[in-house]
Amino acid sequence: MQILVLHGPNLNLLGTREPSVYGTTTLAQIDAELASIAADAGASLSSFQSNHEGALVDRIQAARTDGTQFIVINPAAYTHTSVALRDALAAVDLPFIEVHLSNVHQREPFRHRSYLSDLAVGVVCGLGPAGYRAALHYALGQAPRPAP
Ligand code: DQA
Repeated sequence: MQILVLHGPNLNLLGTREPSVYGTTTLAQIDAELASIAADAGASLSSFQSNHEGALVDRIQAARTDGTQFIVINPAAYTHTSVALRDALAAVDLPFIEVHLSNVHQREPFRHRSYLSDLAVGVVCGLGPAGYRAALHYALGQAPRPAP
């Protein structure tokens, strides 16, 4: 199983960014833990963070042909704005889970809307880094898709 983990804008600042909302775990710690869980399961995992919408679109497009079988994505603020990320995920037609560290539904109304959720296999929010782990465990339990 080959899994791609995507992180959107400002998630590079995890650890120091609004710790009362996002906690104190850094992105490097989250990625290291996910890589270790995947390795223990005999899966391969790559992580990519960008503050740029186009770079995320490019990485999603690349997933179409690089062997990726499942995507775990925290689109961060692009969740609430990005038709481009939605279209990219629809175009590659790979199963994905949307993750948010915070419970977006307890927050400002503009965070209640996602451009991605209806395309996702599932959505996890409010569990902090445990949400990424839950998404990864789900992905690892899925049968790999045959190559196109
Ligand atoms: C977030 C929630 C988004 O509303 C916000 O813009 C983020 C992070 C989360 O993980 O809780 O940057 O996706």
